[in-house]
Amino acid sequence: MVVAITGASAGIGRALAIELAAAGARLVLAARRLELLEALNGELGGGHLCVRTDVAQPADCAAFVAAAHARFGRLDTLVCNAGFAFLRSVADTSAAEWRELLAINLGGTSECIRAALPLMLAQERRQGCRGQILVVSSCLARRALPDLGAYAATKAAQLSLVEALRVELAGTGVVASAMLPVGTDTEFKAVAQERSTRTMLPPGRLEVRQSAATVAACMVRGIVHPAPELWSHLPSRLAASLATLFPGLTDGVLGRVRRLVEG
Ligand SMILES: NC(=O)c1ccc[n+]([C@@H]2O[C@H](COP(=O)([O-])OP(=O)(O)OC[C@H]3O[C@@H](n4cnc5c(N)ncnc54)[C@H](OP(=O)(O)O)[C@@H]3O)[C@@H](O)[C@H]2O)c1
Repeated sequence: MVVAITGASAGIGRALAIELAAAGARLVLAARRLELLEALNGELGGGHLCVRTDVAQPADCAAFVAAAHARFGRLDTLVCNAGFAFLRSVADTSAAEWRELLAINLGGTSECIRAALPLMLAQERRQGCRGQILVVSSCLARRALPDLGAYAATKAAQLSLVEALRVELAGTGVVASAMLPVGTDTEFKAVAQERSTRTMLPPGRLEVRQSAATVAACMVRGIVHPAPELWSHLPSRLAASLATLFPGLTDGVLGRVRRLVEG
């Protein structure tokens, strides 16, 4: 199968590429750091396509999807994974920061999907499926945390987009799924910390962490057997569901945790 992955130069996207290559998939790898993509392609035997892509640029998203189709003749799964965060209160998040976050996390997702859907809908079914859109959102899509409000808003928007798509695409043979990771050991935290005015939680304190390989393995299962939502940490799924049922109680708990962390 042919799988195109944005944000494949590091973290979850890179780990997913490694898992999928081992399973025999042909890959199209996208990110801004082309040299990292090419090094990964070399590690994976060299048969994959690397496309320098800034997902904040709609033309780059269209060119990435077109390059995937031109090289392999079809696109079975599009993984919209590229994303980043910073820690900032809602009041302190500037208009420029909002624009950048929305352009990458949400615009990058919607533009790649807009480019891929017509191709998927026109291609022959393979094992009953024409194609799959897999969006890497976050458990924070279900419940935001303080100082991650803007980031969580983009992740909730991605989840809404997948929820709408699932019903819009019913019966077409194209399916849509969302991956909702918890804290994952990747470059994500360092990138976020670099751009933040607040300090992130030190490792081990009140934080769930998983490896990128664990998240990638969950995504591979979701590519083989598509499901509406993929969660790699079930206790977090339960906690997120409870948080939506009891928002006031959750506010109180999060407020206490915040005071504890800030001493
Ligand atoms: N790590 C976590 O704790 C966690 C938890 C929940 C959800 N997630 C989500 O998981 C996804 C992957 O994050 P990660 O943890 O793997 O982070 P990461 O290690 O920092 O990797 C982020 C990837 O996104 C790419 N990227 C960032 N901006 C881009 C842009 N404008 N155009 C193209 N590619 C871009 C980066 O590549 P270049 O810099 O080379 O462009 C990199 O490959 C994100 O959507 C994130 O929101 C992460």
